[in-house]
Amino acid sequence: ELLQPADAPLAGRQVLITAGPTFEPIDPVRFIGNRSSGRMGFALAAAARDAGARVTLVHGPTAEAMPAGVEGVATETAAAMHTAVMERLPATDILIAAAAVADYRPAAPHAQKIKKSDPTMNLALERTEDILADAARQAATLPRRPFLVGFAAETEHLREHADAKRRNKGLDLIAANRVGEGLAFGTSDNELLCLWEGGERTLPNQPKAQLAPALIDLVIERLNARET
Ligand code: CTP
Ligand code: CA
Repeated sequence: ELLQPADAPLAGRQVLITAGPTFEPIDPVRFIGNRSSGRMGFALAAAARDAGARVTLVHGPTAEAMPAGVEGVATETAAAMHTAVMERLPATDILIAAAAVADYRPAAPHAQKIKKSDPTMNLALERTEDILADAARQAATLPRRPFLVGFAAETEHLREHADAKRRNKGLDLIAANRVGEGLAFGTSDNELLCLWEGGERTLPNQPKAQLAPALIDLVIERLNARET
């Protein structure tokens, strides 16, 4: 554990971050995943730590190294990430959901490796838990409601889709980024359109290692605005 000065902006705060992709099993050797590197979430964990917070990082499969002083919780599936987040939420002051959680998983993963037989194959999928939406519902019932930050990955209508997500999930802040065609996912640079009730700010295109502390600064600013 790293000792932080008591006057650091997030001193005494517990920050919970989700990061990376999820892997949803098809059979013992195959899965449905996505191209998330986890880089943004890991950079946010380091930035929150640098701002003085105690940080827990619930992450899916990634090659990123755990930042010093951050508690890592390794998960693979949306279901496991959901459990890890929900059990930690009551002790959380700030939740930042940066994970690229699978929206669907195989409805009946095979116990044995699927053998090829037919020329085509259908895979039945079911919806996964929406971790952030469930966390927001639980947060509303807690004596000390955590500050909720989500991401929105969109290929079109960035502002409209992101603001709808913010309102529908009941978030304090949403950070929207364009995805597709070499943007955001698996890359080191990103631009974020950050939206809250009655305001917005664009964090211009820059390496995720710089973007992360800029977003943490904005979270601190909005958190202070909520509390005063
Ligand atoms: N999220 C989550 N659990 C899920 C899906 C998404 O916690 N099962 C979180 C993401 O971490 C992100 C936010 O919800 O902070 C928005 O994710 P996104 O994929 O952009 O939106 P969805 O709500 O999944 O809607 P859609 O994919 O249809 O745009
Ligand atoms: Ca989604």
